[in-house]
Amino acid sequence: MRMTVIGTGYVGTVHAVCMAEIGHEVLGIDIDHDRIATLAAGRAPIREAGLDELLARTVASGRLRFSTSLAEGADFARTHFVCVGTPQRPDSKAADLRYIDAVTDELARHLRPGSLVVGKSTVPVGTAARLGRRLAEVARDTEVAWNPEFLREGSAVEDTMRPERIVVGVSSPHAEATLRAVYESLLRAGAAFFSTDPATAELVKVAANSFLATKISFINAMAEVCDAAGADVTVLARAIGADSRIGNRFLEPGLGFGGSCFPKDIRAFAARAEELGAGESVAFLHEVDRINIHQRQRTVTRARQLTGGSFAGRRVAVLGASFKPGSDDVRDSPALAVAAALHQQGATVRVHDPQALDNARAALPDLTYALDIPKVCEGADLVLHLTSWPEYRDIDPAALATMVHTPLLLDARNSLDAQPWRAAGWALHALGRPMGGTS
Ligand code: UDX
Repeated sequence: MRMTVIGTGYVGTVHAVCMAEIGHEVLGIDIDHDRIATLAAGRAPIREAGLDELLARTVASGRLRFSTSLAEGADFARTHFVCVGTPQRPDSKAADLRYIDAVTDELARHLRPGSLVVGKSTVPVGTAARLGRRLAEVARDTEVAWNPEFLREGSAVEDTMRPERIVVGVSSPHAEATLRAVYESLLRAGAAFFSTDPATAELVKVAANSFLATKISFINAMAEVCDAAGADVTVLARAIGADSRIGNRFLEPGLGFGGSCFPKDIRAFAARAEELGAGESVAFLHEVDRINIHQRQRTVTRARQLTGGSFAGRRVAVLGASFKPGSDDVRDSPALAVAAALHQQGATVRVHDPQALDNARAALPDLTYALDIPKVCEGADLVLHLTSWPEYRDIDPAALATMVHTPLLLDARNSLDAQPWRAAGWALHALGRPMGGTS
């Protein structure tokens, strides 16, 4: 099948490459000429496991091409996936729809009758219907469908090639048949298929993200209660997670969530629900957001207590800058937010991250960065573990103890094995675990 993928950001690049990999003829479109030139040369503008190889292969095969022209796209195919960004608006918590509106208006001028426009971006419920009306004013016999993505950074290719479910929101049997045909090979491999109306499909995405964010804030709220009661949240999480109705995934207590999706999506969802008069129903999302942000403040406060009540003249080594392990993304990174607060409060902060240092440096140029863990920790009064990179679990605590000024560690992700650190003489503290910790 022929299709275009409009917007070659994170979602669009992965979608275009994967659709070409499963055999479709794909034209990727973006207004950014440099980005299109890079992609056409077979180079990925983002880091994602497996992406470079698939991009090179599909470009070489001729199944994946790139363009900056929507007119060319409208000519090339009758199915168009729209993958442009929907960031948080600078003036409110709602989603900024200017990019998706601009693409729709421009596309409308060129679309052929019988064309299907499929949104993949995360949008406020009702957007597909609104865009459908907008298209219909200009283009005859066209339809807007919604097909949310559920990609996780770091495993986006895997998530696209082997999805657990595919959700499509359509208004006609033709649109459903088209999308079934697009995903036929993935459906044969076992993905569940949900065909519904566009509004439900739009809501599935934000509801899924809201549920996961709520799960994380729930366990972090429990961590605060555990701190107050002298109990251990890591044991509590494992014990409640062993109930299959609860499940133990997304129940890791710590510094909370960040990244480009969860924070903005729950805020935009709450804002949209308010517009619809259903704000009360999801008012708990404000609390989910508040609990999440509070983990950052809690970490800063705990770190300050550990350094004697003030950061003045203190050296703090920060392990981790990305919003999660396996990603170089620092957007709304809890780790970087904590590092920035420490710096602001007078600490000398040195930051390590195996992949995100360039992005971190661009976002927060005032801190010191290094790729070498001992160098970052040299002379430190406190080591803060803020992102759960696997390499931090391989640190030799005894060797690191000889580098620091004080062997004092705050594990804000609860993912280091306390026993070897304590055996090597470290005072290890964590969020939601008593000092003499059981795990
Ligand atoms: C998320 C959703 O998983 C994905 O389906 C959606 O399409 C986009 O948003 P992503 O932002 O890549 O994907 O990251 P994810 O792996 O879900 O983690 C989100 C954040 O939650 C990270 O900051 C992570 O560190 C944090 N997290 C996750 C926790 O704090 N505790 C947990 O138990 C799990």
